[in-house]
Amino acid sequence: MRPSPMQDDEQPVIMPHSYDGIQEYDQSLPNWWLFTLFASIAFAFVYWLANFTTGTLPDDRVALDAELAALEARQLAAVKDLDEATLWKMSRNPTTLAEGQAVYAGLCFSCHGPKMEGIKGVGFRLNDDLWVHGNTGMAVFRNINEGVVFDGKPTGMAAQKALGAGRVAAVTAYLLSFQQQGRMQAIDRTKEPSQLTP
Ligand code: HEC
Repeated sequence: MRPSPMQDDEQPVIMPHSYDGIQEYDQSLPNWWLFTLFASIAFAFVYWLANFTTGTLPDDRVALDAELAALEARQLAAVKDLDEATLWKMSRNPTTLAEGQAVYAGLCFSCHGPKMEGIKGVGFRLNDDLWVHGNTGMAVFRNINEGVVFDGKPTGMAAQKALGAGRVAAVTAYLLSFQQQGRMQAIDRTKEPSQLTP
């Protein structure tokens, strides 16, 4: 029989054996204490399964990354004088890119193609690294914002100013997300027309 919990006036129960003169108490642990021990072991197992094995629980790191991206996107959007460095930073920010992709899908794909592959006779290819009207982020921003004039005449690429600078910057960032900084090449539209559309 297990000894019952010690009362205030009782002497502690001592196990009969003794090793090197060291004796051992024989006290059963209180049930509430055992309950917290076993409950925390069970919880640890379930938590390990849910968090690390099956991925049922939302991953804190994913949530944190998304929050940081949203924060950075807001900081970048608040920059007053847009410059090349800011545009390239935007082009690697998931929140900005989601906005830019939405603008592209709503307004640009009808002329530049759903995959930016260009449409013959309608709009240039935008998914390669060849650029006709300027091979920098800022040039792309200006071409979208102000439209493209060729030989003194407006082209099919009309100014998108009405979108507002924020969304023009976002769609520029979306185009730049398929590019590497410093690797955008300038080409002459009269010399390599086959590169411009499919
Ligand atoms: C009505 C059709 C049309 C729409 C809509 C349109 N574009 Fe264009 N875009 C053109 C044409 C045509 C050109 C080529 C201009 C020329 O003849 O040089 C062009 C050129 C460009 C260029 C310059 C490409 C280069 O090689 O330098 C960029 C960048 C561009 N468009 C982005 C966009 C974005 C982003 C949108 C959506 C906000 C958009 N365009 C909407 C027709 C369109």
